[in-house]
Amino acid sequence: MSAVSGPVPAAPDHGTTPPPDAGTTPGVPAEAVLDLRDVHRTHGTGPAAVHALRGVSLVVRPGELVAVMGPSGSGKSTLLTLAGGLDSPTAGEVRVEGQPLHELNRRGLARLRRRRIGYIFQNLNLIGSLNAVENVALPLELDGSGVRRARRLALEALTEVGLSELGDRFPDQLSGGQQQRVAIARALVGERRLMLADEPTGALDSQTGEAVLRLLRRRVDAGAAGVLVTHEARHAAWADRVVFLRDGVTVDSTAPLVGVEALLAGSGR
Ligand SMILES: Nc1ncnc2c1ncn2[C@@H]1O[C@H](COP(=O)(O)OP(=O)(O)OP(=O)(O)O)[C@@H](O)[C@H]1O
Ligand SMILES: [Mg+2]
Repeated sequence: MSAVSGPVPAAPDHGTTPPPDAGTTPGVPAEAVLDLRDVHRTHGTGPAAVHALRGVSLVVRPGELVAVMGPSGSGKSTLLTLAGGLDSPTAGEVRVEGQPLHELNRRGLARLRRRRIGYIFQNLNLIGSLNAVENVALPLELDGSGVRRARRLALEALTEVGLSELGDRFPDQLSGGQQQRVAIARALVGERRLMLADEPTGALDSQTGEAVLRLLRRRVDAGAAGVLVTHEARHAAWADRVVFLRDGVTVDSTAPLVGVEALLAGSGR
């Protein structure tokens, strides 16, 4: 019997050879889902100009949840708005899954936003004339999904946020926290790769708030990338990294005080 039968083991890779596919090679960082490059956003001109962001760079990779903290007015919401292609930087570049957003036309940008990006914003933007299931199904239907498939996925997403029983209620028949969960279901539905959350737990009691963060965490662990704006250190603890903004610039970037491992160990997940 030959001693060399079977597959020949690959030579050890010491990181000197370029990876064939950086996204799947162990030990090699996956391609960024979100890549902000020296991004500036100025509102107005002349002496009245407000510099909301003054040169922020940030890379978020698959499986990574980044918390953004900082005082009111420091540029956190502006950063999320630019990351989601809802506004354009005055200077610098935003890339989502390698695609520079400024190269997309309006339709291309709208499609990327509907398919790949999930938003949970301070202003929930639920549509009052649509019930909960219809609100959640809307981005899928706009994207050409059949009504039945969109409805099924919407119900799944509502179940994830604990609202499976309330799918036929209209926004004004739901509490603030329930409305927020509908908005979260809408952000989760489909195959979103980039989750952007601006204080998503604002209207929620602490238990529901934690459930929402756990959902976000689970999506990120499944391969999405996430950015979470929060004022609370215990929420930032769900993130892998915390970025601090002050007056439109990044002032610090650290690991959270309590690691997500500790939170997950305590949550019985
Ligand atoms: N459309 C606008 N026109 C003029 N200034 C704006 C506009 N939008 C935001 N700003 C200013 O840009 C700065 C950053 O605003 P941003 O909303 O990003 O802050 P934030 O960190 O999210 O604050 P908060 O914690 O209060 O939500 C603020 O000074 C704000 O007043
Ligand atoms: Mg804000």
